Amino acid sequence: MNFKALTATIALIAAAPVVALAGGADDDTLVLNGEVEMTTKAAAPAHMADTYVDEIISGWHFRADETQALQMDDFENQGMIFVDDGLATWETVEGSEGKSCASCHESPDSMKGVAATYPKWNEDAGELRTVQMQMNDCRVNRMGAAPWKYDAKVAINVEAMIASQSRGMPVDVQIDGPVKAAWEQGKELYYTRTGILELSCASCHEENYGNYIRADHLSQGQINGFPTYRLKNAKLNGVHSRFKGCVRDTRAETYSPGSEEFIALELYVKSRGNGLSVEGPSVRN
Ligand code: HEC
Ligand code: HEC
Repeated sequence: MNFKALTATIALIAAAPVVALAGGADDDTLVLNGEVEMTTKAAAPAHMADTYVDEIISGWHFRADETQALQMDDFENQGMIFVDDGLATWETVEGSEGKSCASCHESPDSMKGVAATYPKWNEDAGELRTVQMQMNDCRVNRMGAAPWKYDAKVAINVEAMIASQSRGMPVDVQIDGPVKAAWEQGKELYYTRTGILELSCASCHEENYGNYIRADHLSQGQINGFPTYRLKNAKLNGVHSRFKGCVRDTRAETYSPGSEEFIALELYVKSRGNGLSVEGPSVRN
């Protein structure tokens, strides 16, 4: 976004009604490969009772028909090419222990449910883990291999392969117990206005979804479809890189992929999609 667009953004946000109308989401139905009907709209989870949002909506509904169509058919979804790359990596032996992911986990369908429930608390390590953190833990501690850089292409491709195993399952991340503090931190970040434009995630994705910023149709900023294949850069994109892009657009200082802040924000944003189907890899602009 250039500065002119940002000025327009401020005007848009200033003019926005106090209670946003759930405009802009179309009534199409996302059926995957003519078989699996996805839940792309659902009642907001209980923890969102104090927000403007009573219905949670997948970003798919805010995209043009042509873009939507690409995600409905695996032969059209270019993200699936990267899923194949991820599968090849899954089967590749690396590191001092002479193992591949497949040596221990066997078939990729052993990963069913992972994308629906991560970020998740790991009891032994006593930490909240994203899928990428868990993959790196296996690489370092079980394979004797180097960790992947956060949101590196290879890591995102494997993450997408893992996500694809859960497509159609409802997002269901835990928000209480040991992850409660991180979830609260993520929520705080979501509502904090930053940058010279003083915008928060909520300014755009809660108060203005359905509205347009220039040619961009604002969605709720859900992450049930990640990793996402973007037509704009013709590759899969990770959640943290997307967050980084959004924060940068508000001209604020941003956090790095893999940072504690983005891990917490990922948990919080993911929990706003509890009930939507996992769609990764989805297709977006
Ligand atoms: C030497 C065996 C071994 C190898 C090799 C291995 N893992 Fe794991 N992995 C495990 C074990 C054991 C667990 C369960 C650990 C736990 O719960 O803390 C696990 C857990 C996971 C989980 C979390 C599953 C869940 O249901 O929460 C993911 C995701 C994962 N591994 C991905 C990978 C990937 C990707 C690779 C290859 C880069 C890999 N693993 C390589 C042994 C392995
Ligand atoms: C200035 C407005 C603006 C702000 C502030 C903003 N975003 Fe975005 N965001 C956008 C636009 C525009 C898009 C692309 C259209 C869409 O999907 O909404 C987008 C897309 C996204 C997506 C991709 C959604 C999908 O379905 O693929 C996510 C996730 C996201 N934003 C999260 C965030 C988070 C988290 C924050 C706060 C750290 C944030 N955004 C702040 C404008 C904003």
